[in-house]
Amino acid sequence: MSEKAKLILQGKEYEFPVILGSENEKAIDISSLRAKTGYITLDPGYVNTGATTSSITYLDGELGVLRYRGIPIEQLAEKSTFVETSYLLIYGNLPNKQQLEDFSKSLTMHSMIHEDMKHFFDGYPAAAHPMAILSSMVCSLSAYYPESMNVFDNFDMQVPRLLSKLRTIAAFSYKKSVGHPVIYPQNHLSYCANFLQMMFAVPAEPYEIDDDMVRALNILLILHADHEQNCSTSTVRLVGSSQANMYASVSAGILALWGPLHGGANQAVIEMLESIHNSGTKCADFISKVKDKNSKARLMGFGHRVYKSYDPRAKILKQMTDVILAKRGISDPLLDIAKQMEETALSDPYFIERNLYPNVDFYSGILYKAMGIPVNMFTVMFAIGRLPGWIAHLKEMMEDPNTKIGRPRQIYTGPVSREYVPIESRK
Ligand code: SDX
Repeated sequence: MSEKAKLILQGKEYEFPVILGSENEKAIDISSLRAKTGYITLDPGYVNTGATTSSITYLDGELGVLRYRGIPIEQLAEKSTFVETSYLLIYGNLPNKQQLEDFSKSLTMHSMIHEDMKHFFDGYPAAAHPMAILSSMVCSLSAYYPESMNVFDNFDMQVPRLLSKLRTIAAFSYKKSVGHPVIYPQNHLSYCANFLQMMFAVPAEPYEIDDDMVRALNILLILHADHEQNCSTSTVRLVGSSQANMYASVSAGILALWGPLHGGANQAVIEMLESIHNSGTKCADFISKVKDKNSKARLMGFGHRVYKSYDPRAKILKQMTDVILAKRGISDPLLDIAKQMEETALSDPYFIERNLYPNVDFYSGILYKAMGIPVNMFTVMFAIGRLPGWIAHLKEMMEDPNTKIGRPRQIYTGPVSREYVPIESRK
């Protein structure tokens, strides 16, 4: 017999069904709560509230488990590519040979942006943050593809179009920011190799593809590809629930990701480490400052709403950092500070009591830096990685016949009813 939840309000008993997920997660289905009782629930930050069921990604915060469509992130990072993992997330299974070939080809065919869009870049100051450019350029894609204004139309063409063009827009925005001519995509290159050549090739000399960097970029993007109902994915779902087109929903997701508490943390971690390095602050002194509530300082790249253990992605990134820096002959003092900070924090009761561990953003910036990617592009890299996850959730929501427009309730705490007072009579 399926479990029920009982609620007693003003002496009356109400029953609500319990939902059981495929990994035995449990939820009380309160969709009939207000109709039955007149009450709503209140849960700032949705700490205890599920917005949906989903079959895309599974996290176990206590055990540090992350699986995309049931496949452990460790296996995908070791054996897959970002294009293959994107297909898995969006279409639900690993592609067979033909499916992967067709998908890769469609990404290649959609890699260019309309030449007129290049003029958009001229309107931005050189110091414009690339996340501002990325979001507005993605939203502007809807102006060039009116046939995609209906989010349900041409979905299988919209997917490779956006996955491929986001990467081109990102690389073009970097080139513009450093005053270089933009480098066009090369059709014979893989997704990640193409991005690196669009970022770092210069017309004056041939660009040599570094297979280690291509592999590192694939792994970085795989690790960022989805993370169930995080802030930016929930934003994409909420905007998409109004049936806005895919470009509008993803553009909103990019802006939510930009926040330093979310995807912007990878940039904030490097800025934190650089300030510690440049000021010669001792790790122990910085940790003391973080523990002092009045300082408002946070150990960026630490802590997570779901992971109350080591973020499995951070584990992989930490190992990768040692390998990539050694391969490139780089010794980055920021890595030493990060490791020392981690060791100090993980043995400090403040962090232990609050289950604060390194998250995906703690080491990723050091890797991006070693690859030559500038700090203000770090969150753009997160967006490129997270795009297949956003698309997968949008698709899952659109295919669910029970999807309703997202419209949370509230408890009003403002002034009760009062009369309008003419200005002459106001104090
Ligand atoms: C991402 O949701 C996802 O899945 C996100 C993400 C994804 O892939 O989409 O994993 C990507 O966004 C990772 C998180 C990146 N952000 C940061 O690294 C910023 C620093 N971390 C935090 O600000 C914080 O840990 C959050 C935002 C990540 C989580 O915040 P919560 O769950 O709202 O927790 P909280 O702020 O209520 O903190 C609980 C306690 C508080 O102390 P007390 O009030 O109990 O005394 O822990 C403390 C906080 O002060 N705390 C920290 C801390 N993080 C939490 N103290 C110092 N340094 C920190 N980093």
